Amino acid sequence: MEMLIDARALHTYYGAGHILRGIDFRVGPGETIGLMGRNGMGKSTLLKTLMGLVKPRAGSVAVMGRDMTGKPPHEIARKGVAYVPEGRGIFGNLSVVENLKMAARPGSRGQRDWTYDRVLETFPRLKERLGHGGQQLSGGEQQMLTIGRALMTNPDVLILDEATEGLAPLIAREIWRICALIRESGISSVIVDKNWKHVARIADRNVILVKGEVVFSGTSDELRARPQLLEQYLGV
Ligand SMILES: Nc1ncnc2c1ncn2[C@@H]1O[C@H](COP(=O)(O)OP(=O)(O)OP(=O)(O)O)[C@@H](O)[C@H]1O
Ligand SMILES: [Mg+2]
Repeated sequence: MEMLIDARALHTYYGAGHILRGIDFRVGPGETIGLMGRNGMGKSTLLKTLMGLVKPRAGSVAVMGRDMTGKPPHEIARKGVAYVPEGRGIFGNLSVVENLKMAARPGSRGQRDWTYDRVLETFPRLKERLGHGGQQLSGGEQQMLTIGRALMTNPDVLILDEATEGLAPLIAREIWRICALIRESGISSVIVDKNWKHVARIADRNVILVKGEVVFSGTSDELRARPQLLEQYLGV
């Protein structure tokens, strides 16, 4: 099985701070991966390293079998990896329609599964706010717009860093519903979220980081069967 993302022995630093300490991380076709760990353990740094936003000092990142180590983010995105960072990355002075349409492009294999209409069907709340400027949207709607923009690029892998952070429970539930739809559509995803139960419900595999190292990788059943691990590594 060819991996969509195959990262090996990653070491990433911020200045003298040694953050990722030899991480192997793989994403297979159609796989949904939950990436877990307490605050400051290196989850976002791993995602940024995969995306080319931070260069690893050692190790490699391959996307679709091609070595992309040290390549800039837009080249990694072109290979089919969409990234929704912590916080919201929309254009506040553009409307919902404009935000979506400017992101549109075929995927790495020329696929055009996610059309403007399909994205709006997936996000009924956005459909009601097409003419609104990005800055007029609620936090949850902005998050939906960010995910909608990512889908408009027809990715093979969608990376979501804390997509439900700070959202009201009802809106967070809507985001989880959308994650499940994305999974069913066959797109692989990597999901970071504080709510491990929600993550485990959707993930095929879960990876726990402690101080920049992988301490667990296994199915959601394996994770639930080891409450001591949850307590020790996630504090739950
Ligand atoms: N730009 C930066 N410069 C220096 N240190 C950083 C930078 N970004 C993160 N760090 C440090 O790197 C470590 C890992 O941070 P990272 O953001 O990857 O953690 P995280 O697991 O995503 O945490 P959280 O759950 O709080 O989002 C932390 O000690 C953090 O303080
Ligand atoms: Mg983070």
